[in-house]
Amino acid sequence: MDRLGCLESRALHVTSIDLHRVRDETFVREIDFHWELASTNDQALKWAEEESIVTPLLVLADKQTQGRGRGPNRWLSSPGSLTFSLLLPLDGIPADRLPQISLTVGLAICQALETFAPLADLAIKWPNDVYLNEKKAAGILIEMPPRRPPHGVIGVGINANNSLTDYDADVQSKSVSLIDAIEQEVDLSDLLITCLDHLDRYLNLLRENPTAIVDQWRAYHLLEGRQVEVDAYGDRIRGVCDGIDPDGALRVVTPSGLQRCIGGIVTDFERREL
Ligand code: BTN
Repeated sequence: MDRLGCLESRALHVTSIDLHRVRDETFVREIDFHWELASTNDQALKWAEEESIVTPLLVLADKQTQGRGRGPNRWLSSPGSLTFSLLLPLDGIPADRLPQISLTVGLAICQALETFAPLADLAIKWPNDVYLNEKKAAGILIEMPPRRPPHGVIGVGINANNSLTDYDADVQSKSVSLIDAIEQEVDLSDLLITCLDHLDRYLNLLRENPTAIVDQWRAYHLLEGRQVEVDAYGDRIRGVCDGIDPDGALRVVTPSGLQRCIGGIVTDFERREL
């Protein structure tokens, strides 16, 4: 396993990400880079067990073979995608504010992608997906290491330079990559550094002034006013989405009244994701 301190220079030249730049220009203090890894989140959770580990730690993989998503979801990382996990202290943001953390990470990734695709329509699909022109461009998986409070692991997968044009129609109708949207390659170091900068800034804002961030989530919210069904841990809640509450809960107006969801998987019936 390579950590920045003991990386071979070969690795620095071959990977398309300039790891020295990432460490010098961001709040990340340690980088654990792998050419191939099952899951960057699993690796970050493993690091969380080590008391001596320096954080914020960035786990980065050129290729991820068993990327995990929420619930049964998998995250495929093909060459050119950006796949990373951050192990970092979330002091001042209690774990029961997970929906707020998800939305805040989503907001940071939306804004980072917007820098590279200023004409695209970026949105957060509650609670943790990032959509570009109505298709999924990035997924977020946040996990809390059981023995390392107040640390959290924030895993992010972005379809960046991995074109999806060779995939079947079903994949292409639901997912998009940055390169296909803007028709040019992005510099992955720039993209990663921009994501990390926004993450740092917005997590600090959530810590210091949580009410100030609510309008920003709302400005990027994809589902407002749409007919949705939320699979909330077995409960199916169907109705019209009425926005997001300040605690990050999704508001759904159902025939029997308003329901607040703090987690779950949403089907957006207006896009017919059935
Ligand atoms: C989802 O779509 O449900 C979330 C996908 C999250 C994927 C990222 S890729 C980096 C990190 N490592 C993982 O195993 N998963 C997350």
